[in-house]
Amino acid sequence: MTQDELKALVGQAALQYVVPGEIVGVGTGSTVNKFIDALAGIKDRIPGAVSSSVASTERLQAAGIRVFDLGEVGELAVYIDGADEIDGRGYMVKGGGAALTREKIVAAQSRRFICIADESKRVEVLGRFPLPVEVIPWPRSASCGSSRPSAASRRCA
Ligand code: A5P
Repeated sequence: MTQDELKALVGQAALQYVVPGEIVGVGTGSTVNKFIDALAGIKDRIPGAVSSSVASTERLQAAGIRVFDLGEVGELAVYIDGADEIDGRGYMVKGGGAALTREKIVAAQSRRFICIADESKRVEVLGRFPLPVEVIPWPRSASCGSSRPSAASRRCA
């Protein structure tokens, strides 16, 4: 089987963890894209999804799945995402697709985290995969160098 076919299989298998009637948390990456494609087939059973990236949001919406803002929903029943590396103890590295911050936030708001991955993600030792550093603009006003007054900048003075 090709890696693409394996990704499609795990994406399809993840459907068993989707809770009918509940909004599902959706990660980012090529494996999750296969999950989104599979989710489209059962979209009438869920109100929609919370997405961890612009790319996943666009794919979900193109599939006719409503995307909710994380701020307008409560705890999610399940968050489904891929991984870059997984070792024999089940520890894993994520973030290769540069969506790690949002992924961690959505995962933290979910009761379960289901990781979907094909065998190519299995490694002896974590750390070979290069990880991007994420710079997110919205907390800028909280930095010491900000010209706009904020609780954080007042504390820095
Ligand atoms: C995104 O930031 C990542 O955490 C991805 O979930 C992870 O890299 C897996 O992506 P692939 O399924 O494309 O390998």
